[in-house]
Amino acid sequence: MEHHGRVTGESIISLQNVSKTYISVHKSNEVVRNVSLDVQENEFVVLFGPGQCGKTTMINLIAGLQLPTEGKVIVDGKEVKAPGPDRGVVYQTTALFPFCTVMGNVEFGPKSRKMDKATRRERAQYFIDLVGLKGYEKSFPNRLSGGMRQRVGIARAYANDPKVMLMDEPFGHLDAQTRYMMEAELEKIWQQEKRTVVFVTNNSEEAVYLADRIIILTNTPTQIKHELKVDLPRPREYSDPAFLEIRRQIEEICDDTL
Ligand SMILES: Nc1ncnc2c1ncn2[C@@H]1O[C@H](COP(=O)(O)OP(=O)(O)OP(=O)(O)O)[C@@H](O)[C@H]1O
Ligand SMILES: [Mg+2]
Repeated sequence: MEHHGRVTGESIISLQNVSKTYISVHKSNEVVRNVSLDVQENEFVVLFGPGQCGKTTMINLIAGLQLPTEGKVIVDGKEVKAPGPDRGVVYQTTALFPFCTVMGNVEFGPKSRKMDKATRRERAQYFIDLVGLKGYEKSFPNRLSGGMRQRVGIARAYANDPKVMLMDEPFGHLDAQTRYMMEAELEKIWQQEKRTVVFVTNNSEEAVYLADRIIILTNTPTQIKHELKVDLPRPREYSDPAFLEIRRQIEEICDDTL
């Protein structure tokens, strides 16, 4: 809405030698090992890694839902110590408030921060329209399809005007057809509402479609294995030979051991 738009070359997210070990009574489980990563303002970064490698843990570390065992996470110049409205999170399955309408869900953040009704309504409506849910403002979540719920989740996250969007396999539970549609929608939304995005997937097609840069992660304890810039013009074509070539490179990088 009011700001963003240009890539400034400033790093807005910075992971500095971040490690995470979960400790329970019986054992300690090192999940993230010494990861350093800088994400530029308005950059779309995809974290691509195998199942159970620690992708959600990395999202939670940036979100402030987990704290690193070693190292630091800096967002917008401040060390992350707790969750905050500057970081919007969209999960694989978005937990919507079941007794709130679509409008109620989307305006929840601004409302809880005491934004006046007219302003927050206008703001919520803008994002409801943007994600293609015009006409569903009064619907309750249990009447919505999986894809529509994820749209509400995205609109709700954007309505808080976060500095960064963290998306943890947001389309992972959708059928292929809906996922293609949502990828195209997200691309469009991001073009219009530029924002720094960290997006997790283990689908190489989705990664190449969306990313400015793909960070390929190893198995647990996860480390950065490789980085790939994707310079193809947007919106991208799944069947473009250059697109397929990048997918092939990813698969090659992932194949060689680990
Ligand atoms: N809160 C937690 N406490 C203890 N162990 C955890 C916690 N969260 C995750 N783990 C462990 O960390 C490892 C990585 O989990 P994580 O969910 O970060 O991986 P992931 O790559 O997101 O997995 P998936 O592909 O299933 O989404 C797993 O072994 C998991 O059991
Ligand atoms: Mg996960």
